Amino acid sequence: MKYQSHAVDRGAVHKPMRLQLHRWSEEHRGEETMEAAVAYLLLSLPLVTCAVAVILLLLSALKPSKARASGGVLRLPPAPPAVPVAGPLLWLVRARHRLEPAIRELHRRHGPVLTLRFLSPRPAIFVSGRGVAHRALVQRGPAFSSRPPAIAPFRVLNSGQSTVSSAPYCPLWRSLRRNLTSGILHPSRVPLFAPARRWALAALVSDLGRRCKESGGEVAVVECLQLAMFSLLTYMCFGRSLHGRRVREIEAVQRELFASYISFQVFAFFPAVTKRVFWRWWNKVLAIRRRQKELFLPLIRARRENGGEHGEDLSYCYVDTLHAHQLPKEEDERALTDAEMVSLCTEFLTASIDTTVTALQWIMANLVRQPEVQAKLRSEIDAVVSANDGDNIAEEDLKRMPYLKAVVLEGLRRHPPAHFLLSHAAVEEASLDGHRVPAATLVNFSVADVSLDEAVWDRPEEFRPERFVNGGEGVGVDLTGSRDIKMTPFGAGRRICPGLALALLHLECFVATLVREFEWEPVAGVGVDLAERPEFTVTMERPLRARVARRRRAAAAAAAAWI
Ligand code: HEM
Repeated sequence: MKYQSHAVDRGAVHKPMRLQLHRWSEEHRGEETMEAAVAYLLLSLPLVTCAVAVILLLLSALKPSKARASGGVLRLPPAPPAVPVAGPLLWLVRARHRLEPAIRELHRRHGPVLTLRFLSPRPAIFVSGRGVAHRALVQRGPAFSSRPPAIAPFRVLNSGQSTVSSAPYCPLWRSLRRNLTSGILHPSRVPLFAPARRWALAALVSDLGRRCKESGGEVAVVECLQLAMFSLLTYMCFGRSLHGRRVREIEAVQRELFASYISFQVFAFFPAVTKRVFWRWWNKVLAIRRRQKELFLPLIRARRENGGEHGEDLSYCYVDTLHAHQLPKEEDERALTDAEMVSLCTEFLTASIDTTVTALQWIMANLVRQPEVQAKLRSEIDAVVSANDGDNIAEEDLKRMPYLKAVVLEGLRRHPPAHFLLSHAAVEEASLDGHRVPAATLVNFSVADVSLDEAVWDRPEEFRPERFVNGGEGVGVDLTGSRDIKMTPFGAGRRICPGLALALLHLECFVATLVREFEWEPVAGVGVDLAERPEFTVTMERPLRARVARRRRAAAAAAAAWI
């Protein structure tokens, strides 16, 4: 028999009644429900059951509900005791800026799987720990591979969940994800974008060099990284090297979106009301969407109108794959609409730029703090490049730089850009480690806790790339988590980040260039503060400022950092 979601807490029922319940359930094994049991009591013990019903109602409001699933009675994962209205508010006020440590503390008390009832209108399940993440994401295959219903602002921005990251587990998701992976991210496509990478890296070197000169060496690093990454990813997306003003306009609208992510959560609650109360924020959602259309549609249409004639532009880009894409039969085998293409381009930029820049900034911050790691990395890069008898790095050279890979991996382990995966949801009602997970409930997996697990990592708080070389505990780590989850900056299972390989390539290219072309030191009296700030990603509370000095002749470095 199908179970109901609003069952009662059996342990709270008075003992004689429990006996009656038990007897009743023995007689009706296999088809009983708690609701039917309550009905039985209501018929047989009218007076007492009135009182019980009231208690049960109260308890069901305060405690995790339980219900029957095939083979037994399952409850939602444990939840901290909830005092309706006041409790959540107090907790939220306390935790607003320190939500993650607060959740960690709750895991310590309640175990690796717990329910929080007041972060969203539906209960949200939080999962921490390598074992349970592996069981849910990898061993159970598709069971937890869906996405929950999106809240109002995101439905506007993602065209009603018609993007790879937001679509539920369904044929639409499969078709959009396949288009992205086979069209852009497949290893055979990566060389097509080498000209874009060379162009963006040369621009980065000359931008950083210019800023060094103008400021006497002290540079706000993240601004340069962002500009270069926007230039590269917009090039891959629209097929055109967009210059100055246009890149900055796209950057501005994306930044506004990132900065608003947390405040948009308010529309999860009573959207009809919150849209009126917070009308300024709602207008901001609409303004961001309007601006995205103004900026992206001319680029999307130009690509369609030019057909195969692209002049100096890339011969192939993400927008080309979108123009050619046909949705599956469940979506009437139609082409993508302009609005859907705007959403998919936004996703392409959102998913790839901020994550990679955040990782890059953390890596450079640690290299500034640890000059010996920076020097060791530089001598590896110099040795490989000069062994090739070259002046500039070639992408092929990266294969011969194990310490560079170790630095990038350590950056992703110690400072994963996302501390939680995007919210998952069970495709249909499921169980997880003996707990009930209703369909469409938010399931949030912690990323940061996994890579700080002392059972795997020696002194996990330290930034120590050596753990990934020469027999260290991280050697051979499987970033996909298929065999075993040790760190999971890109997620695991069906929803794993499809940009994993591209992200690693970009990080290696950028770090190699920055370390080969410049010397990095802390700003005297300021140092490097590793405090975190949760935004769309978890970035540096105080963005990195460093003293940067050019190593090589300006002309050689600016002309081409890469061959
Ligand atoms: C350092 C860089 C990056 C990091 C740390 C990162 C991390 C992640 C994480 C944690 C997820 C969520 C996985 C889940 O929900 O289980 C994700 C999803 C995704 N990422 Fe990345 N990512 C990075 C770069 C990229 C790049 C370069 C692209 C490609 C353009 C990309 C495209 C996506 C997409 C489309 C999804 C949604 C996948 C789905 O729902 O099926 N990411 N990424």
